[in-house]
Amino acid sequence: MALSTPIIVVGSGLAGLSAAAQLLAHQLPVRLLDRAAKPGGNSIKASSGINAAPTRFQPSFGDNESGLDDAFLADTVLSAGLPLANATGDERTRRDTLITTLTESSSSALYWLTDTIGVDLSTVAQLGGHSHPRTHRGPGKPPGAAIVSTLLERLNADPLFTLQTGATVTRVKREADEVMGVEYTVDNGADSEPKTETLNGPLVFAAGGFAGDSHGLLAKYRPDLAGLPSTNEARPGALPLLQEIGAGVLDLDRVQVHPTGFIDPTDRTARGKILAAEMLRGEGGILLLNGSRFVNELQTREYISNQIMATPATENDSDDATKQWDVTLVMDEGTAAATASHMGFYKWKGLMRAVKAEDLDATTQDSIQTYADVVAGVLADPHGRTAHGHWTLRQLTPDTTLYVGSVTPVVHFTMGGVAIDDHAAVLDAAGTPIHGLWAAGEITGGIHGQNRLGGSSLLECVVFGRRAGDAAAEFYRLHYLGESI
Ligand SMILES: Cc1cc2nc3c(=O)[nH]c(=O)nc-3n(C[C@H](O)[C@H](O)[C@H](O)COP(=O)(O)OP(=O)(O)OC[C@H]3O[C@@H](n4cnc5c(N)ncnc54)[C@H](O)[C@@H]3O)c2cc1C
Ligand SMILES: *[C@@H]1O[C@H](CO)[C@@H](O)[C@H](O)[C@H]1NC(C)=O
Ligand SMILES: *[C@@H]1O[C@H](CO)[C@@H](O)[C@H](O)[C@H]1NC(C)=O
Ligand SMILES: *[C@@H]1O[C@H](CO)[C@@H](O)[C@H](O)[C@H]1NC(C)=O
Ligand SMILES: *[C@@H]1O[C@H](CO)[C@@H](O)[C@H](O)[C@H]1NC(C)=O
Repeated sequence: MALSTPIIVVGSGLAGLSAAAQLLAHQLPVRLLDRAAKPGGNSIKASSGINAAPTRFQPSFGDNESGLDDAFLADTVLSAGLPLANATGDERTRRDTLITTLTESSSSALYWLTDTIGVDLSTVAQLGGHSHPRTHRGPGKPPGAAIVSTLLERLNADPLFTLQTGATVTRVKREADEVMGVEYTVDNGADSEPKTETLNGPLVFAAGGFAGDSHGLLAKYRPDLAGLPSTNEARPGALPLLQEIGAGVLDLDRVQVHPTGFIDPTDRTARGKILAAEMLRGEGGILLLNGSRFVNELQTREYISNQIMATPATENDSDDATKQWDVTLVMDEGTAAATASHMGFYKWKGLMRAVKAEDLDATTQDSIQTYADVVAGVLADPHGRTAHGHWTLRQLTPDTTLYVGSVTPVVHFTMGGVAIDDHAAVLDAAGTPIHGLWAAGEITGGIHGQNRLGGSSLLECVVFGRRAGDAAAEFYRLHYLGESI
């Protein structure tokens, strides 16, 4: 067997790492290229967790397993909204298939991470837009860092695996009907020109989304979001490389704004913001505008962001002002304890701080007591919130400890991207697979429709990354090794 040609994977986020791991499981050689100096992409920042249902870690597992699976599908369909509901013909079939593949493969994806790769993801929370707790994380490191570092360790131990960082892919080579490889540049330091190299082989493209490309693709597809801060790494989107060779795209104007990016008190108008993990709300936290609650904090990100952005932004006459709002996130001791792994970091960064109730204004104190009464079941919530995580506070006294921080909407995730089928093959504008090319992760479109549920992005990376690995392995055997299958 001539194994000199590798299978090329572009992007070392979770989608690329999952594809690489799967290719190595087939004992095939992998070259992973990433433009960044360090691997991990935006995946390494993921802080809330990964969705899966049914799993043995879910609190109601055993009561009704198929119910848990059905509910995940129903929540995902609801969240996908009109781009799914309005679609017809082949496009409708494709979108339906992607969503059922995502949800039906979720338990096996999660068990692959926990049982085969060895990441602890045994803690489960309920995030916004979810009807059940199904977002998994571990007790230690945040989930993105835990998953990425464990996977990388495994890959690096395999002699068939080569990772090259500082390698920016600049062109995908398509000859006639097939993708043959890539061109990439290697930075040679300040003194010399970047060097262009060519690499041949089938290609799995996992270069992530464009939420961090504020002046490029984001400004092009969503000019109205110009000026908002972002949680993503600032880098150009790689989508045009696939558009140039005829890949179909969809939902590019569907951009997720996350309602809670931390405003750092020492640099209030910074463009890059640290995400206030959704689990802070999931575990009981509330949001206040001018001291009052205004929303069910477990509503979808889109809904909450729109509620905030419908109010006047913080005034700033400067031309290059960051467009932001000033929302207060409040947590009690119970919520803080349940999110301790995150809170240590946020407190250390000065993003959340402990205060005594008596130091808060009267409106804020009232709002907190009213919410405590809702949690205790004494009052119905005017905003319809029914799950309150680990909130334990019942009676506010002047020296009750609370945790507060300032948050604002941030550009967070791009739902749209290249069209793929359920085996992660990239499709052209007519819906026909392009030979030798697969894609997975945030660079793809059609799975989330108008809104991605929190926790479903890491999931799509694993599900479709592994599928891309399997499909590319089969193609490689057939076309490069001449095996008949
Ligand atoms: C702060 C934060 C928290 C999040 N929390 C969660 C969460 O809890 N749960 C969840 O499901 N999702 C979460 N997300 C979203 C999720 O992390 C990302 O959508 C997902 O990880 C994307 O993975 P990916 O592999 O597709 O891309 P990425 O992880 O972004 O990786 C793409 C890689 O491709 C490289 N690349 C790009 N262009 C090129 C090129 N031309 N040549 C070579 N390399 C290139 C990049 O350098 C990067 O390393 C979060 C996102 C952020 C920013
Ligand atoms: C399980 O859940 C499904 C979907 O929610 C429901 O239709 C079904 O009746 C439930 N079965 C049992 C035994 O509760
Ligand atoms: C979906 O259809 C509705 C009603 O026909 C229409 O108003 C809306 O613009 C469509 N939305 C999308 C995203 O296609
Ligand atoms: C909050 O107060 C400011 C200043 O009084 C006001 O401009 C703004 O409209 C208020 N926002 C909400 C949501 O009530
Ligand atoms: C207004 O925005 C500019 C540019 O981001 C920033 O330097 C300045 O501090 C902001 N002013 C206020 C009052 O926030």
